Amino acid sequence: MSDSSRTLIVANRGVMNPGQGESPVRVVPAWAAPPDTHRLVMLGDTAPEASAELRVIRHRVEQKRADGIWTFGITSPRGGEGKSTFAAQLALVLSESQRARVLLAEANFARPSIAKVLGFEVPEGQGFSNQIARKMRGNADAWCVTALGPALHVLAEETNAANFPEALHSPHFTNALNFLARGYDFLIVDSPSILGTGDANVVENAVDAMIVVARSKVTKGTDLRRALKQLGDRKTLGVVLWDASQFKRRK
Ligand SMILES: Nc1ncnc2c1ncn2[C@@H]1O[C@H](COP(=O)(O)OP(=O)(O)OP(=O)(O)O)[C@@H](O)[C@H]1O
Ligand SMILES: [Mg+2]
Repeated sequence: MSDSSRTLIVANRGVMNPGQGESPVRVVPAWAAPPDTHRLVMLGDTAPEASAELRVIRHRVEQKRADGIWTFGITSPRGGEGKSTFAAQLALVLSESQRARVLLAEANFARPSIAKVLGFEVPEGQGFSNQIARKMRGNADAWCVTALGPALHVLAEETNAANFPEALHSPHFTNALNFLARGYDFLIVDSPSILGTGDANVVENAVDAMIVVARSKVTKGTDLRRALKQLGDRKTLGVVLWDASQFKRRK
């Protein structure tokens, strides 16, 4: 591991005391790469109205924080409907003013993209599913998260490494989210999509609330209805219509 890595216990709400057998958190700085400003409206000179809409969503999420709800899964009825893009945007906007500490966790192990979306490299061997797989073998290392800034940490999959999609079904996955959430003001989980598997329901069980992303010309109404039924309304916060127009650049 690089010399600049450091070990600390993230604790923004008083001292966090890991229980017996729980690991602290190791925070390593990101290998910086240029973020994709075509995809992320919070970076670069992209449409300001999209940022305004994101801030409205941030306000709603911050209100939930006051109710003791601070872990959010981001899902969609099917693949490719904007979950990872929206999850990264939401994490950025929540951490924007540095009022809050945010952890963005990637739980879509079968289709990882968070490192690419945010333009950084996950340290070798520290992809989330790899870390879970090591815990499944009895390893007690600290959870390793990457710092993209003082207020934003990320626990993502490595881009070009073998990963372990089955790790989602290990109790270590839920334990990791429960444990890590205690050190942050917000935990945003990029979840698998809903239809066709129960994977999104695994994330649903591990978080306080789910946000469903849909796109008006991509998501079918029947799929959205079936997906909302599969999730149920116990934890579903709402549907975010996240449209292509928000990605248009202003001249
Ligand atoms: N609102 C949007 N408008 C236009 N393009 C978008 C929008 N959101 C995402 N995209 C693009 O659509 C593609 C899929 O987005 P993304 O990877 O965020 O979806 P996903 O739901 O996470 O996919 P997967 O199911 O593979 O995890 C990407 O190329 C992304 O740039
Ligand atoms: Mg994705």
